[in-house]
Amino acid sequence: MERRKFIEFLGKGVVTTSLLPPFISSCNRIGSERIFKINSMTKGISPTNADDLVLAEGLTYEVLLTFGQKISDKDTFGSDNDYIAFVPGDNENEGTLWVNHESVTSIFVSRFTGGEKTKEQVDTEMYNMGGSIVKIKKENGSWNIDYNNPVNRRLNAFTEIPFNWDSQIKGTTKAIGTLENCAGGITPWGTILTCEENYHNCFGERNFETGEIKYSSWSKQWHKHYDRPPEHYGWVVEVDPATGKAEKHIALGRCAHECATVVELEDKRIVVYTGDDKVDQCIYKFISDEPGSMKSGTLYVANTDEGKWISLNIDEQPILKEKFKDQTEVLIRLREAAALVGGTPQARPEDIEIDPVTGNVLVALTNNKPKNDYFGEILKIEEKDGKYDSLEFTASTFLTGGEEMGFACPDNLAFDKAGNLYFTCDISSSSMNKPPYESFKNNGFFVVPRTGPQEGQVIQIASGPVDSELTGPFFTPDGKTLFLSVQHPGDRTKSYDAMTSHWPDGGNAEPRPSVVAISGPLLDQLQGLS
Ligand code: FEO
Ligand code: CA
Ligand code: CA
Ligand code: CA
Repeated sequence: MERRKFIEFLGKGVVTTSLLPPFISSCNRIGSERIFKINSMTKGISPTNADDLVLAEGLTYEVLLTFGQKISDKDTFGSDNDYIAFVPGDNENEGTLWVNHESVTSIFVSRFTGGEKTKEQVDTEMYNMGGSIVKIKKENGSWNIDYNNPVNRRLNAFTEIPFNWDSQIKGTTKAIGTLENCAGGITPWGTILTCEENYHNCFGERNFETGEIKYSSWSKQWHKHYDRPPEHYGWVVEVDPATGKAEKHIALGRCAHECATVVELEDKRIVVYTGDDKVDQCIYKFISDEPGSMKSGTLYVANTDEGKWISLNIDEQPILKEKFKDQTEVLIRLREAAALVGGTPQARPEDIEIDPVTGNVLVALTNNKPKNDYFGEILKIEEKDGKYDSLEFTASTFLTGGEEMGFACPDNLAFDKAGNLYFTCDISSSSMNKPPYESFKNNGFFVVPRTGPQEGQVIQIASGPVDSELTGPFFTPDGKTLFLSVQHPGDRTKSYDAMTSHWPDGGNAEPRPSVVAISGPLLDQLQGLS
């Protein structure tokens, strides 16, 4: 099928390295002076519903970490791995992985198949969400975990985490647990941001008018065994991968945070982009007042119709002052505040990445089914004068999902060393291989080459096992390895006799979410590596 070509991908005016924020140009990414010119063709794969991780020619994978695997004498790797961050070690053959654990497929994690969950089942599920820190080493060309390394540990729904805020939240200065950790980000100082997305599925959400707590149809029933206020979840959490020390950043607001993408300005203040992955919710950015602070600063919501970032500071917005008693309440009830000041409802904001060549901000908008937007798009935000602390911008569509483009429901975004764009797709398991999604088959992973004969084309290079979603793509700084999460394979399984996936072991094995390490000549070709 003829795919439309997006010449604008290169950008009219390619910015020079000096205009890029220091953090982007310093994290082994690229400037225009060394854009690699691809001269070969990438042979993509056709969509498939095979129960396997199918890769394009020139790519191979090895399973690095899998659900239930022991990472130390004390801890095991959690469930439904999503965001991955690789923090390089002393040399290119070692580093620390942070991996988010977004959810649990109960039938395989807690052996729950219906009815009321026992406390023991809830405890098992609470242990398996959060994140893992695992030291890894490359030996004879393969990445392996460094079992029992002192940095290896779990954060989960039992971990005590303080709020980085001066007022208490529902009477305490700390929360117990982090949960529903979806995507994230990395800070210029090497810590990890992990985002609590669908927090309402664990301890519900408050109706702030009546004070009552409501539980969704996806409720994990945890509230039946633990009394935890919903206000303690839905935050961006910063974790030091060396120590596991964590804090929840209240100033970034409370919502179904998908990700948190940090840019450092010349004067070392930071800008953090984040989106609220819920139908008709918004895109936000936080601009710090002080270098490196995620507490002192202002949170803004995007009005993409007018190209304006609107302040959510109660002292600057009389309408917020009328409704809320203080800034803490504004941040806890962020969705209501954003609607009051004119934030634009979006088609479920997912991942956000900064294009390392143009400096533009790309936002995956996955879909908005109630508005008949089934395929989503990637939105491009160009900040005025290329300044990340600007309060004005231009928004336009960068790529539109659909049959002729070969993808639907974009989710995680990543750029490689040469500035090629990669993205994953998240068609929900219940919709996959059904109208209007049949042509896409299982969820895939795509590359958009920056240069060369296929410049701007969308090429599928991976397909996930049955009922899975590919998430968390992250490159090592040398570009040689791409870490990728295979999340929730077989998640529609209702009985052990009829599992919908057996990946990665095959045969009659239970499916296990896993992190894979992908490498091969195709990655080298796309980035000009030898
Ligand atoms: Fe967890 Fe919005 O994806
Ligand atoms: Ca996601
Ligand atoms: Ca998603
Ligand atoms: Ca997911």
